[in-house]
Amino acid sequence: MGKIALFCLLFLLSYANVFDSKCLPCHQRKKANLKVIFFNYLLYHSSERRVKKAMKAFLLHPDPKKSLFVKNGSIYRHHIDPQILDQALKTYWERYKVIGKIK
Ligand code: HEC
Repeated sequence: MGKIALFCLLFLLSYANVFDSKCLPCHQRKKANLKVIFFNYLLYHSSERRVKKAMKAFLLHPDPKKSLFVKNGSIYRHHIDPQILDQALKTYWERYKVIGKIK
């Protein structure tokens, strides 16, 4: 019983951190600034629901025409499980939403 609980906890913790463990390191390496990306999406889509929806749509079905970050058409094709993506976008939003409040 205890083992199962521990396993579930570890599972949840690792899920909660996909943003830090998966998204951030690569973005830092490739200099794809997540702050800039967030701001572009926020300016364009304004609401939390629309920002998340647009990012999810783009990351699951990359289309150079829909990119709000890349201008030269050479987009990075993310391969992310949709459920993991939801968690990552949740963390992403919570982490950066304050930017939208700075006037
Ligand atoms: C292996 C590298 C890598 C990983 C892992 C990665 N990204 Fe990216 N991402 C990139 C690069 C490079 C770009 C810039 C090129 C582009 O926009 O396609 C990018 C662009 C983006 C964009 C902007 C899309 C656009 O062009 O409008 C978003 C949003 C994004 N990433 C979110 C995420 C999230 C959320 C995660 C984690 C679930 C993640 N990325 C994981 C490399 C990565």
